[in-house]
Amino acid sequence: MPKKVVVGSRKGGVGKSTMAYEVAYVLGAVLVDFEWDGDSVSRRWGYRHEERATDPLMAALDKGRTPRVLKGFRKPDLVPGSPLLLDATLTPDEFADAIAKWAEEWGRDLVVDTHPGASASAHGAMSVADVICVPTGLKTGDLNGTEQMVKEMLDYPLVIVPNMVRRVPPAAEIKRLTSIVEGTPVRVGPPIPFVGAVEVRKRRIAMTAENPVPRAILKVVDAYRDLGAFVQEYVS
Ligand SMILES: Nc1ncnc2c1ncn2[C@@H]1O[C@H](COP(=O)(O)OP(=O)(O)O)[C@@H](O)[C@H]1O
Ligand SMILES: [Mg+2]
Repeated sequence: MPKKVVVGSRKGGVGKSTMAYEVAYVLGAVLVDFEWDGDSVSRRWGYRHEERATDPLMAALDKGRTPRVLKGFRKPDLVPGSPLLLDATLTPDEFADAIAKWAEEWGRDLVVDTHPGASASAHGAMSVADVICVPTGLKTGDLNGTEQMVKEMLDYPLVIVPNMVRRVPPAAEIKRLTSIVEGTPVRVGPPIPFVGAVEVRKRRIAMTAENPVPRAILKVVDAYRDLGAFVQEYVS
């Protein structure tokens, strides 16, 4: 059975899209873009919807078809996002059914990148997810959002991934994260370090596809490989 991975969070800017891109590449999964604006995975991949005459995601959702997957070279295969997703009138269940059907028809694992906050597309994807990766900064604001999410989604397969973790992680915030998940089935995944070179990187290939891996991103590449292995083990 193909596995469905969803990367989600109440907050923007916590590293969801970067995580979805790398985890999809590490797992050899199809990356499905459910983000409708901003610095989406589709844009990073090199897909520019404004230059396209068709909208494969909306066409697939509207007609109940399975979208064609764009082949990535040293980056994940992609179902590009659409700015029209914002106005889509589908219910969470319809999104859920679509995601489940696509994974089955492709016979491949998929990773969904979601828009921050609550949306029908994010909810739908999460409701059929085998694992939901929640990138979380070790900061009060991020942890507040994560605590809320853990409380409301206890019956979902949540994995909190400490993200953009500084060299000296703040002890109080680690303690808080530990207490947020204590006594729940929610797991904490391997942390991803903060690496300045990630913020300014312009290359489209996945960091985990670099060969040789540039020294500046070595730590983050190792961490994403660990996260990929963790996710693989979690879903199997
Ligand atoms: N491990 C990291 N270290 C440093 N910066 C990172 C890291 N991961 C992501 N970033 C940067 O953080 C910003 C937000 O990341 P992004 O993946 O777009 O988050 P989101 O999808 O949650 O909005 C981007 O500028 C990105 O390059
Ligand atoms: Mg994003």
